Amino acid sequence: MAGNEFKILCIGKVCLDELLYCDSYPVEDTVLRVLDRKLSSGGNAANNCKVLAELGVKSDLFGTLNVKSTTGSLIKEELESFGVNVSQCELIEGCEIPIAISIVNEGSGSRTFLYYTEDWPEVSYEAFLNIDLSQYSWIHVEMRKNDQLKQIVQRITEWNSKRAASGKHSPVPVSLEVENNDDRCLEVMPLADFVVVSKDFARVHGYNSMPEALDGLYGHLKPGATLVVPWAEEGAAARGPEGVFYSPAFPPERVVDTLGAGDTFCAGLMLALARGRPLEQSLKFACQVAGTKVGVRGFRGLGDLLRQRGVRLQ
Ligand code: FRU
Repeated sequence: MAGNEFKILCIGKVCLDELLYCDSYPVEDTVLRVLDRKLSSGGNAANNCKVLAELGVKSDLFGTLNVKSTTGSLIKEELESFGVNVSQCELIEGCEIPIAISIVNEGSGSRTFLYYTEDWPEVSYEAFLNIDLSQYSWIHVEMRKNDQLKQIVQRITEWNSKRAASGKHSPVPVSLEVENNDDRCLEVMPLADFVVVSKDFARVHGYNSMPEALDGLYGHLKPGATLVVPWAEEGAAARGPEGVFYSPAFPPERVVDTLGAGDTFCAGLMLALARGRPLEQSLKFACQVAGTKVGVRGFRGLGDLLRQRGVRLQ
């Protein structure tokens, strides 16, 4: 482990989620009554951090944030109420954080995003250089269509190689979440120790099942790395030096909210792996955490629910 304290760094997007909980999906040109409305922090990295907090783990978020705007301060407050540290975020002024209006259909559990952004910048390489990476036990990056992010991942790899070469420290494991179909994502895949590839990404590349995705995409990784493919209600699969593993999904009695299910899966996976659990167990744990999440609105209380179900968090 890197620092004295167990802490994970999550790098990626932060946005404002306006969540509209409905009991069905609206029909165009009709009126649908919204059951509940909530404003919340969103974005994969922000969601990763909230889930980690629920699972009892400290995390730092590195994303862009405008804390002087009403939406920015609301996001900051909500993340801090979970116990997420946002002080590493890159502060932006003069423009508004993106907003994702999400229609959560509690009848089916589906979530539909309406995404709006002006000229909101993503994290910069320059700001990243201010972060002392040695304080982390694990670094997770949500890879996007962004050159700066690519540079950031390269920088982490170089830093890790130097660290390992010194003989005094072991490298900090790096996981990558890949959702966007973009060359930069493929280019950084060989740099990470763990790569989580979304079902949509796998499909765009012509892989229509977990075994196909594992076989087809494993060659993009460096030797010794692990590929993980979550496949929604079918569960998830992983291929790494320990072998190939499958886990079933752990669906709740009723699926109500799948928003952030993938982010929840990633958080569960990185936590279990960072704690040293074997790949097969980590995969199962990630599926249990994601399966529990989709049975409830949002992320609050997820840790308690898992404990009630007898899932071991530590
Ligand atoms: C869920 C999520 C939402 C956000 C959207 C952004 O995975 O992170 O919180 O609105 O995706 O892409």
